[in-house]
Amino acid sequence: MLPASPPCPLKARRSASLAGVATIPGDKSISHRALILGALALGETRITGLLEADDVLNTAEAVRAFGAKVIRVADRGAWQVRGTGVGGWGEPENVLDFGNSGTGSRLAMGAMATTPVSAVFTGDVSLRKRPMGRVLEPLKLFGAEYTARAGGLLPVTLRGAARPICVEHKVAVASAQVKSAMLLAALNAPGRSRISQAMLTRDHTERMLAAFGAEISVEPLPGGGEVISLLGEAELKGTKVDVPRDPSSAAFVIVAGLIVPGSEITLPGILLNPRRIGLIDTLLEMGANIEITHPRESGGEKIGDLTVRHSVLKGVHVPAARVPAMIDEFPILSVAAAFAEGDTTMSGLDELRLKETDRLAAMLAGLRAAGVAVEGGEDGLVVHGRGADGVPGGGHVLTRLDHRIAMAFLVMGLASRAPTSVDDASVIATSFPEFEHLMRHLGAQFEGVAG
Ligand code: S3P
Repeated sequence: MLPASPPCPLKARRSASLAGVATIPGDKSISHRALILGALALGETRITGLLEADDVLNTAEAVRAFGAKVIRVADRGAWQVRGTGVGGWGEPENVLDFGNSGTGSRLAMGAMATTPVSAVFTGDVSLRKRPMGRVLEPLKLFGAEYTARAGGLLPVTLRGAARPICVEHKVAVASAQVKSAMLLAALNAPGRSRISQAMLTRDHTERMLAAFGAEISVEPLPGGGEVISLLGEAELKGTKVDVPRDPSSAAFVIVAGLIVPGSEITLPGILLNPRRIGLIDTLLEMGANIEITHPRESGGEKIGDLTVRHSVLKGVHVPAARVPAMIDEFPILSVAAAFAEGDTTMSGLDELRLKETDRLAAMLAGLRAAGVAVEGGEDGLVVHGRGADGVPGGGHVLTRLDHRIAMAFLVMGLASRAPTSVDDASVIATSFPEFEHLMRHLGAQFEGVAG
């Protein structure tokens, strides 16, 4: 793992209009996948726009430990990976430390599960509390074996199958990480594996597997959901990957532009995969002024330029069926909802309790600390909006190693009456190291505070 930064308290205060162009870094999900598939392919994969944030750098270290050559060739995310071929990963000499990253650790587990090597996986205090059984149990179907701490927690020792078998499996949770781990494992299992899921989650693994030459097909299931068929003993060929800009990072800048009066911000080249834009759909329903221009394709994904202007928002109901398309965006949606007129209701949020921290609890605590009335149940949230100028603010938020909680509540402080502080903004380096600099450049008022 990268050396931990010292805690860095930060305060956000009411700011004058935010304006300018925001260059958002590369998509985190696609960056992890580009490194892992590049490491499983034969030949060279050239990546541009890779997200150079802690989570992804830990994945780069891990695939090096499995035997891939990974080189940063230039700035702005230009990287090269020379892979081993499917089934060619070697045994890491040391423990693999994935830091804060659920995606990096779970995808790497899948990618090694059908190769006869052993590896020890661990991570930071947050990752060591997150459930790994959801990936490890179905990986046993391929012939892999593991030992974990009680409750399926890291550290985990995973032994890849010496004689892997293909599987037919329905993924029990609405998780792209679990689905992707299964698909990566299927790559080295002779025969055709069929992986199905009732909810449609992000499909970057499927798209990228096709781009690397895997034989993969996707069919809808009659009752909803879909089944993915993948032919094992695949020969992946290194390719070029252009990583689009991350909509989950853009989300913080978008909401800041909507709630700070007088703002106008342009965000070029944002990933607009339909399975990632539930927040934009929801904000548009709330009355947000978000213009999407120059829709185009890049690296097999839809992208476009966004222009966001300050808007009067109204509360809405977010249907549970939309949750997978905005799974990481609820903390910042709850901030937008606080500045809306009327109530915003959300349901089907149980997975939020299993993220970098219990996000449902963190959202309730942060909103209440800012004087916003909220009600939360097991898997739902109601935010009683205070209107554009009505959020008292003044709260102090514990980020508990959750980058998105830190960014969401700093954005809240830019438009609330009293400043909002977070105990540790260093956690933002997990996904969006440029956040503070980029936001200051747009006009955000941040100040360091004594710890
Ligand atoms: C991700 C999937 C989501 C998301 C995470 C990235 C991915 O997790 O929260 O930030 O890249 O596959 P789950 O699949 O566990 O919902």
